[in-house]
Amino acid sequence: MLRTIDAFDRIGEENAFAVLARANELAQQGRSIINLGIGQPDFRTPEHIVEAAIKALRDGEHGYTGATGILPLREAVSADIHKRVGVSVNPDNVVIVPGGKVTMFMAILMFGAPGVDILYPDPGFPIYRSMIEFTGARPVPVPIREENGFGFSAEETLSLLTPQTRLVIFNSPANPTGGITGRAEIEKLVQGLTERPDIAILSDEIYGQMTYDGQEHVSLLAFEAIRDRVILLDGWSKTYAMTGWRMGYAVWPDALITKARKLAVNCWSCVNSPAQFGGLAALTGPQDAVAAMVAEFDARRKLVVEGLNALPGISARTPLGAFYAFPNIKATGWKAKPLASALLEKAGVATIGGPDFGILGEGYIRLSYANSRENISLALERIREFLEREKPE
Ligand SMILES: Cc1ncc(COP(=O)(O)O)c(C=O)c1O
Repeated sequence: MLRTIDAFDRIGEENAFAVLARANELAQQGRSIINLGIGQPDFRTPEHIVEAAIKALRDGEHGYTGATGILPLREAVSADIHKRVGVSVNPDNVVIVPGGKVTMFMAILMFGAPGVDILYPDPGFPIYRSMIEFTGARPVPVPIREENGFGFSAEETLSLLTPQTRLVIFNSPANPTGGITGRAEIEKLVQGLTERPDIAILSDEIYGQMTYDGQEHVSLLAFEAIRDRVILLDGWSKTYAMTGWRMGYAVWPDALITKARKLAVNCWSCVNSPAQFGGLAALTGPQDAVAAMVAEFDARRKLVVEGLNALPGISARTPLGAFYAFPNIKATGWKAKPLASALLEKAGVATIGGPDFGILGEGYIRLSYANSRENISLALERIREFLEREKPE
């Protein structure tokens, strides 16, 4: 019998992909399915980015690159951060990765081990907990509460630190809630973390450019007191509608950059070379497509929140970032996962049950509004009919 390490008994999954597979299966059987499950922009990658990647291939840019990515791209990342956050980042601290997810894999692998505590948001992106468990570290959920506008509470987060804490995972704007942690709360959190120089902070800012109602995005990189311990996770997937390109980047502090580079060498050698040229065009080219996408998401956000709040038993906060709504469904009498499943099977609307994002996700479902306004309106209509027709399981 093959005997893999026990860690594989603990590794989890991302149920959004299972829901996507089932939604596609139903669609292939001829069912009309509206997919509000998977978190990816429904827009096409802007044309100039696609052209840049094609040109790179034609120009013979199809070999290995340096493990951390081509220098012009790392310089462009650095310039972009300078423009948006006002902080100078050395391009040598930037690592281009095959998707933002890889940075969380690396950071958790770097710090996770039995006897170590790692804090992560609950509800939150499911891979945080999965990878923490894989390493044998103790996953310590930081409750992300509706009454806090789905932002982190600095006080609660700091109260969960133990002498064993080695890594804190922070995410704003957040998946699955669309919540944003405001500046005042972040400042309190940073203040507390200043007293623990032995703790690294993974700041997942992949939705940093998707904020609404004039809400500012506060990057943890902006705080000098902790900058030597912040690992910034960002990438192209959401901002530039490039999920399938597998393009992400991280900024690693001096103390960790060599380790990060070595992980890259050991695992993927370098990111797909033409994709890196696409990523370069994305950062250095016109940004109007990004603004147009965010404006469209904003319009859909209003549609979805208004529609959800008009449904029986459902109440939804207005998300301030990302492209997710996380309505409270407790008053419908349904548990979240059976509801999500029944909505897909019986109403043809794919959503994700809150418990797929953590224990505190019970009582909520996630809707991604990365779909057309017509489809969102139709989906809301189908959910209404479903709730009026079906009794809770
Ligand atoms: C919070 C969060 N972080 C990271 C990622 C990973 O992004 P990528 O597709 O670039 O790996 C996602 C994707 O859904 C996400 O929601």
